[in-house]
Amino acid sequence: MAATPDPALPMPSDNESLTQIESQALSELDAVANDDALERWRVAYLGRRGRLTLVLRGLADLPIEERRRVGARANRLKQQLEASVEEKRARLAQSAGEALNAERIDVTLPGPPLPRGRLHPTTQTLRDVLDCFVSMGFQVVEGPEIEWDHYNFEALRIPRDHPARDMWDTLWIDYEKDGERPMLLRTHTSPNQIRVMEQTPEPPVRVVVPGKVYRYEATDPTHEWMHIQVEGLAVDEGISLADLKGTLADFARRIFGPDRKVAFRCDYFPFVEPGMELRIDCFLCGGEGCRTCSHSGWIEILGAGMVHPEILDAVGYDSERYTGFAFGMGIERIAMLRHGIEDIRLFYSNDLRFLRQF
Ligand code: DAH
Repeated sequence: MAATPDPALPMPSDNESLTQIESQALSELDAVANDDALERWRVAYLGRRGRLTLVLRGLADLPIEERRRVGARANRLKQQLEASVEEKRARLAQSAGEALNAERIDVTLPGPPLPRGRLHPTTQTLRDVLDCFVSMGFQVVEGPEIEWDHYNFEALRIPRDHPARDMWDTLWIDYEKDGERPMLLRTHTSPNQIRVMEQTPEPPVRVVVPGKVYRYEATDPTHEWMHIQVEGLAVDEGISLADLKGTLADFARRIFGPDRKVAFRCDYFPFVEPGMELRIDCFLCGGEGCRTCSHSGWIEILGAGMVHPEILDAVGYDSERYTGFAFGMGIERIAMLRHGIEDIRLFYSNDLRFLRQF
């Protein structure tokens, strides 16, 4: 045992050296933060040319007494470091798992609920009314909201200075021509009767015309300065009042229930002759009289009549050959009756507590 110790190796006999290895190894291990660093550490101390491995290898060169003493200590240190590696490895794995867990997203969780929209109650009723007439063969067309005096009044037999003009409080457009104001916000959808007939050289005509109309009006529970109407017009050979009544009775039953009775009462509108209003029996009290029907048992729902022959002639139709009926209704009124709404202004006050009920 006279071999000279390799100077590259630590001095195995030196107790200081093992103490130093131990303290360096443990403090470096402390700083290890991931698996790669841990592996580098392991190779540096316990690998084939690791610091402790070299000490153990150098034991053979020591005198027997020292070999036993140093060897026992070096082996204990080896076991300690090996155990430390395993412990560290487990801790790294655990904290990686925790980090993953903290970042985990459950993609199957439902998202925050989106507020669900719905159709405005007048839109719902408008669609139901249009569906009803479409199913009877009427076409849906639309016309302008800014209208000429000619279509809104003149062509409908409502001449200037005629008292019938007072039926419609008018919002005129601030535009003058020849000292007159010929444009307005349409007060009803009836001007589209003329427009449609002018664009249809020869009957048959069967149209419904939905749209907004405007009136210069103080608002109250039954009046708004804007409301929505649906106009109806049918012109053909042999159309009679019976067709009008049958059509409107079918409409009333589809919207207000299959048992509805309908009745006409005379009324005046310059563009129809005869003119009338359509009433249905009160679906709340069954005709006995209540607040909704003003204790009459009947509810007025629209204006109607047979198209005036002068109007047919004016658009170039032969009034000896063709006849027609027309009607016009306010959609808010229909919706109010359907849902028991008592104030038309609720539709347009943007109060979600009201709107969400429909
Ligand atoms: N245009 C009328 C109004 O706004 C309603 C009306 C009545 C329309 C009789 C018609 C009709 O087509 O024949 O008060």
